Amino acid sequence: MKLPATAIQTIEMWRLGFVATVSAGGRPNVSPKGTFIVLDDETIAFGEIRSPQTLTNLTNNPELEVNFVDQFTRKGVRIRGYARFIRRDSVEYDALIGQWQKIWGDLANRINVIVKIPVAEAKPLTTPPYDDGATEEAMIALYKQKFSEMYP
Ligand SMILES: Cc1cc2nc3c(=O)[nH]c(=O)nc-3n(C[C@H](O)[C@H](O)[C@H](O)COP(=O)(O)O)c2cc1C
Repeated sequence: MKLPATAIQTIEMWRLGFVATVSAGGRPNVSPKGTFIVLDDETIAFGEIRSPQTLTNLTNNPELEVNFVDQFTRKGVRIRGYARFIRRDSVEYDALIGQWQKIWGDLANRINVIVKIPVAEAKPLTTPPYDDGATEEAMIALYKQKFSEMYP
């Protein structure tokens, strides 16, 4: 399915998603990936650099959920899909890796597998204060303030 423009904007602004997978024994696993790229409006992908459990789990069961949250608006998107591995030294890897090199330079050379995720489902996420009438502008102002207190 097509990603809404707001989801694409959040992913491309933050590039950090929390990827949930399940082990063969049914154990849940969540880990952050900060190398997300929107390949087209129906496909996202991240670079596997050191995520052995995520890779093992996806080998056994390719279904995953990944959440992206804008830390200022406190809105985001939950994406589900079935991962496909694009391994180093394949024609497709060579065709795609330049997009990571452009953003992350030498770090991209450590990507072993590009994990490609055709989007099966994309659901919006919002924080509960929006239910009570909070505005995006107010949220952004509040979290700018909180962040500046955390790292003055
Ligand atoms: C902010 C952040 C971004 C990260 N981005 C990536 C990434 O893009 N690719 C990757 O392989 N590991 C990334 N990591 C490291 C993995 O999340 C970490 O090695 C984790 O323990 C892997 O766990 P797993 O094997 O269960 O996936 C990132 C970690 C953090 C904190």
